[in-house]
Amino acid sequence: MSSDPLIALREFETEALAAIAAATNAEGLEAVRVKFLGRKQGRLKDLQALLGKVSPEQRPIVGKQFNEVRERTEQALEARQADLAKPKAAAGPAFDVTLPGEPFPLGKKHPLTQTMEEFKDIMGRFGFTVVDGPEVEDEHHNFIALNIPGDHPARDPLDNFYLSVAGRSADNPVMLRSQTSTVQIRVMEQTKPPIRIVSLGRVYRPDNPDATHSPMFHQMEGLMVGPDVTMAQLKTVLSLFAAAYLGENVTIRFRPSFFPFTEPSVEVDVSWKGGWMEIGGAGMVDPNVLRAVGYDPEEVTGFAFGLGVERFCMRRYGIDDLRAFYQNDIRFLRQF
Ligand code: DAH
Repeated sequence: MSSDPLIALREFETEALAAIAAATNAEGLEAVRVKFLGRKQGRLKDLQALLGKVSPEQRPIVGKQFNEVRERTEQALEARQADLAKPKAAAGPAFDVTLPGEPFPLGKKHPLTQTMEEFKDIMGRFGFTVVDGPEVEDEHHNFIALNIPGDHPARDPLDNFYLSVAGRSADNPVMLRSQTSTVQIRVMEQTKPPIRIVSLGRVYRPDNPDATHSPMFHQMEGLMVGPDVTMAQLKTVLSLFAAAYLGENVTIRFRPSFFPFTEPSVEVDVSWKGGWMEIGGAGMVDPNVLRAVGYDPEEVTGFAFGLGVERFCMRRYGIDDLRAFYQNDIRFLRQF
């Protein structure tokens, strides 16, 4: 420290201001304050001691200078304190808020969900309302009321998913439904004719998965019951449906077949690429089924059909492996 008090004051100020500016955080700044302005051992205290030694003529000048230096230093310290307390501006390059944002990848409905929604839409236009049924069923709805006898091959336990449910007796088991025809029974049990419904949903059969089989797939069941329901109406409804989903020039054909719950029964094909593709089964509701739900077959008749949902969707989009629907490969799903 210079023995000239004015020079010593100037040195003090220069060094104090530099130290204040260099402090990068509150603790650092506090250390600077203690070092330069501290009441006990700060450097300003030493300067004060010098003050006592100057001549009486010089004293007012040095005293004034002393006060000014102290004031400026204190002000600089306060300003720096306020500065360090401010939240820091984000580091990194400036951010251009006018740039387009990154689009969120939006999810979509599964192709089969889309297909079923379209089915409901088409059938709704023909006056069919949509009903739901449970996937866990009893044998009454899955077989017995549908006129499927105990020795029918469709009832082989190995061809069905029976469930073991605590407290449920073995002679009244539950199972995953193997067909949506169950809903025909549920609706007729609860409503009086006329009836015009469709029901869409999952069905289960213990098949090994391959290009055309899956242990779970989807069906659309249709049922129309009333005083004069005919096979011609069945054919018309299915023709209009196929044309609405697959295109105007699609035609359908019926092949005689057998189902326990319909008489007569047919298998239904639609024209496709110069040939025929099977889309499901149909027929006139068997009188035994009508009786099982308390209807009088002398008073009402009905038609029913069951179509494979996957099949329609596969043909429309040229998908050749059914498993694609269930693998959740985003590259496949994105196409729909
Ligand atoms: N339930 C049959 C099956 O899953 C399909 C079927 C055939 C449904 C004829 C019907 C019908 O309603 O009348 O193979």
